[in-house]
Order: sequence, then C-alpha cells, then structure tokens
Amino acid sequence: GERECGEKSGEEWVAIESDSSNVLKRPDLHRMMETTAQKLRLMGGTVELVDIGEQELPNGQTLALPKVVTATFGTDPNKHTVCVYGHVDVQPAKLEDGWATDPYNLTDINGNLYGRGASDNKAPVLAWIHAVEAYQALSMELPVNVKFVIEGMEETGSNGLDAMILAQRDTFFSDVDYIIISDCGWLSRRPALTYGTRGNCYFFAEVEGPKQDLHSGVYGGTVIEPMTDLIGILDTLISPSGKILIPGIREAVAPLSDEEWKMYQDIQFDMDSYKNKIGVTQLMYSNKVDLLAHMWRYPTVSVHGIEGAFSDSGSKTVIPAKVTAKFSIRQVPNMDPAMVKKQVTDYLHSVFAKRKSPNKLKVTMVIGAKPWLADTQHPLYEAGKAAVKRVFDMDPDLIREGGTIPIARTFQDVTGKSIIMMPIGGFDDGLHSQNEKMSRFDATGFTLVSSHFTLQEVLEQETGYE
Ligand SMILES: *[C@@H]1O[C@H](CO)[C@@H](O)[C@H](O)[C@H]1NC(C)=O
Ligand SMILES: [Zn+2]
Repeated sequence: GERECGEKSGEEWVAIESDSSNVLKRPDLHRMMETTAQKLRLMGGTVELVDIGEQELPNGQTLALPKVVTATFGTDPNKHTVCVYGHVDVQPAKLEDGWATDPYNLTDINGNLYGRGASDNKAPVLAWIHAVEAYQALSMELPVNVKFVIEGMEETGSNGLDAMILAQRDTFFSDVDYIIISDCGWLSRRPALTYGTRGNCYFFAEVEGPKQDLHSGVYGGTVIEPMTDLIGILDTLISPSGKILIPGIREAVAPLSDEEWKMYQDIQFDMDSYKNKIGVTQLMYSNKVDLLAHMWRYPTVSVHGIEGAFSDSGSKTVIPAKVTAKFSIRQVPNMDPAMVKKQVTDYLHSVFAKRKSPNKLKVTMVIGAKPWLADTQHPLYEAGKAAVKRVFDMDPDLIREGGTIPIARTFQDVTGKSIIMMPIGGFDDGLHSQNEKMSRFDATGFTLVSSHFTLQEVLEQETGYE
C-alpha cells in the first residue's frame, strides 16, 4: 500500500503545472501548495499555509505569491527536531520543446519516471513525507519531531522566503535542531552527500559614451566606442587558461588540503561522459581532481551577455551608445562578497583609467550570495553516511555543488542550525531540461535512507540512543 500511495501522490503532483515563472500558471501554483498542505493535513500534521505577500511584476501590477507550507509532526520537547526544506514549483515545460512524453503526465519507462519536477523537487519532497508516512503505517512512534518548510517560488528566486524564515525564527524555527535539503543531485550512479555550494557575485559594468546610437559609416573613426572599451576591460578579468586576474580574489581562496585532494581522487566521476554530456572535445583541466576542484571549490568568472549591443541576425552598422556587460564570479570560502565588490570595482576602474577614454564606466554588483560549506565530520553527515551505507551498501561520495542554493546560507545565518544536503536526484535527471525524470532506484532507496536517517541515525549519533 505504501508504494501505491506514494505513486499516486507523484502522479498527482507532477500533473499540476506549478510553473512559478509563468504568471498565467499562478492558479495552478496555488493549487499545488494547497495539495501539498492537504497531504500533510491528512497525515495528521499541524499545517499552515503562510502568507508571504505579493510580488511586483515588471508592468507594475502585483500578484499574490504562493503561500509557504509549514507542517509539524510531533512537539515532544525531549526529542530532536528535524526540519526538511523543499519546493514544489517547477521550471516551464512544453511537449513541443522536445519531450518524448507529456511533461505533466508522470510516465514510467524502464523504471524512470518522466515528468517536469519529478527530480526537481517533487519526488525528493515526497520521499521525506513518505518517510513519516512509513512510520505511521507501521504504527511506530516518530523518534524525532519532523517539520517541513515547502515553498513555491524556488525556481524564480524564492521571493518572500528569507523574510518568512526571519519572521518565524523565534516561533516555527525556534526548536529546530537540524535542517535537511534535498534539492540537488548525485554526481554519478553512486549516492552522494553534498557539503558545499558556491555563492555568486553578479555584476553589471556599463560604459556610456555618445548621447545616442551612431552610424559607423558616418561617425566611425571619430568617437571612442563604448563597446570597444567594454570588451577591452572584460578581457582583463580572466586569462585564457582560467586564471582570475582581479587582484585579491585568488589570494582569498582557502587552499586545497591534502585530505581534500585525496577525497576528490576517490570520487566516482567520468571525464569522458562529462565531455559528451556538454558536447565539448576539451575541458579546462585534463585530470579529475583539478576539474572537480574548479567546478566546486575555486571561483570562476563567467561573462553572460552585453545589454545594448546589437545581437539580432543580419548586419547592422551601429555604434551602440551605451552597453552593459553582465558577468558573475562564483564565490567560495573564504571570499567575502563585500570585499569582492570592492576588488572588482577598483580593478575595472583602474584598467579603464589606463585606456584614457572619455566614456563613463559604472560598475554595480546586483547579487552577492555567499558560499556554503558544511563539516563532513559533523554528526549529521556521519548519520547520512551510515544511512546510505546501510541502504545502498556503499559509501556516499562527498560532493559539492558548483551552483548556488542561497536558502542554505539563509537557514544557517538566521537559525544558526546545522544543515545537510542529501541529494536524491541522479546525475542524468535532466533538471530544468527536456525529459526530466526520477529513477525508481534513487527514489525508493532514498525513501529508505530518509526514514532511517531522520528517525534513527541522527539520534544514535547525537545521543547514543539505540
Ligand atoms: C498519461 O499517459 C498515459 C499513457 O501514455 C495515458 O494512458 C493517460 O491517458 C495520460 N493521462 C492524461 C491525464 O493525459
Ligand atoms: Zn530545485
């Protein structure tokens, strides 16, 4: 019955087009939050749909944000309290984007369950809910109190969630001991625990010259072009071999320890399938340790685009009057976004000054998300390792994420509690892409892991309880 029941929820959840980026789908998103709340209510949880206000749209109109679902199972002060965070909104998906099946009709093909949101993040949320359900079905007392925080705006930046966490710090979160996030993926077929994510500092660099766009035939050769200035300074950020040239950035990075090197060496990772996956013949580094280290624990500069530049097809002979480059620098320990902001701004102004251009440069940092790093020897991680070992009969890879999961940092900063990231998704799940799926192997194993983990291992590790 448990498995049947779980699959029914999975189908029902994937069938709801809870795309948080599409304002026309907002009613579906509200329905998704209500469906999630109802499932938790039927299980006997104390459930709230927390109003987190409205969002302002570019056209000035406002739109209600999806409520955040909180749920509590057990309030025994003698037990530890574990809080699971997840999200039930999804990225957009259309059959005509190249899906082999209807993205909102969960379809089982050879043990893979295809559907938008299957891996990111509906199945992981359900896996934790099923862990509680499994105890209930077996009439076993929950040995820890379990809480859930489930949001519906993760894919568009978790609007309103930071404020909600801050507002409930001394209420809902006051008795939380541990926070669990399963919104990431394994690196290979081997289960993994994630102990770090990179932050991100996102910059705009604007160069402004003439008061309007000019014709290159008429004015070319008489003006110092903003685009030339901009490309010139962008080219000073990073060397062709990937060395960041901004003074102070590399110096701030925590050195790679011997233990870390050894750990990376042991991780299951295939360079060739990685190359095939992204469709390149050569990577920045040719050995696994260097590649993983630069994916996870070194900063990098990525140039994303230039606003105001001519980018349509065809050949327009324009001299753009104002161009704005968008670039970002992934953050790792011990970089500090406030310091990075100053380093980047000072550096770009100094290289710009050397050009002796009459144009104006303006540098702004629009996002400053810090990295997150956990101690892999912490009891939470020891419990996670033991649970994976028991269920999958292998040790998990200890991995990091190159991307940013800002909510981890918020939880840590606001609640001061320890966090573990326990991925459930496979490396080939196609998050945010066509044919997203969750494999039964991962999901079933994980439900077992999560039930062992929340309800038993943490206790044993923390208190010696057997
Ligand atoms: C989902 O797909 C299955 C198999 O292709 C089909 O039988 C079923 O009718 C579909 N359900 C919906 C709601 O479209
Ligand atoms: Zn996600």
